[in-house]
Amino acid sequence: MRSLIIVGILIFSNLLAADSWGWNQRKGVAPATDKLYIEECASCHFGYQAGLLPSRSWKKVMSGLDDHFGTDASLEPEDNQKILKYLVDNSAEKFTNYKRSKRINNSISRYSTPIAITKTPYMIKKHKQIPIKLIKQKEVSSLANCKTCHTTADKGIYRERDILIPNYGKWDD
Ligand code: HEC
Ligand code: HEC
Repeated sequence: MRSLIIVGILIFSNLLAADSWGWNQRKGVAPATDKLYIEECASCHFGYQAGLLPSRSWKKVMSGLDDHFGTDASLEPEDNQKILKYLVDNSAEKFTNYKRSKRINNSISRYSTPIAITKTPYMIKKHKQIPIKLIKQKEVSSLANCKTCHTTADKGIYRERDILIPNYGKWDD
């Protein structure tokens, strides 16, 4: 009897551990997994997860790669098509079981199509308390460099406790 109870406790605590991991993930955004996307779109900057923008934004980004934030990031048409499909299939409005995707998507007016994640109302609101000098400093340089502050950004986790701002440290508001 006692061993049955122990086995029961072990199974239960495992379930709890597995679920708390899943829960962290669902609070963030789904991690980027597509090989081609990572290869082509995470070379100049952090590989932003598809769930950080709605599909209409990704369509706009992918149709303007020849003039992409002042650089030429154009691709072969087949690669462009493949990456666009991946981004659209995993975009913010399709991943509403992830809390951040849902919040980002809900914050954008349906009449606007931002191409920068950092220009969406949700992101502006979440970052507005950070002193400009901490963003402009050379170790960060732009809010677009998510990974310099969010140490777990690669996993799609943007929790407050994982934030470490260069030359400032932990964020505590
Ligand atoms: C040749 C370099 C280069 C490549 C390749 C590139 N980008 Fe960019 N991207 C940039 C630059 C530069 C910025 C502006 C970053 C900043 O504001 O600090 C940017 C910004 C972005 C932003 C907006 C970030 C924000 O919220 O401010 C998105 C979204 C983006 N890129 C998506 C993509 C996608 C998708 C691909 C692959 C098809 C891609 N990028 C490939 C250079 C590149
Ligand atoms: C200069 C450092 C810095 C950079 C760069 C940065 N963030 Fe943040 N981010 C923060 C801070 C500080 C907060 C506020 C946390 C709080 O008070 O809840 C935050 C909050 C967030 C939140 C909300 C988290 C929560 O628990 O409410 C998300 C999501 C997020 N950032 C995503 C991003 C993404 C995506 C990028 C890149 C496009 C980015 N951040 C770039 C520092 C940064």
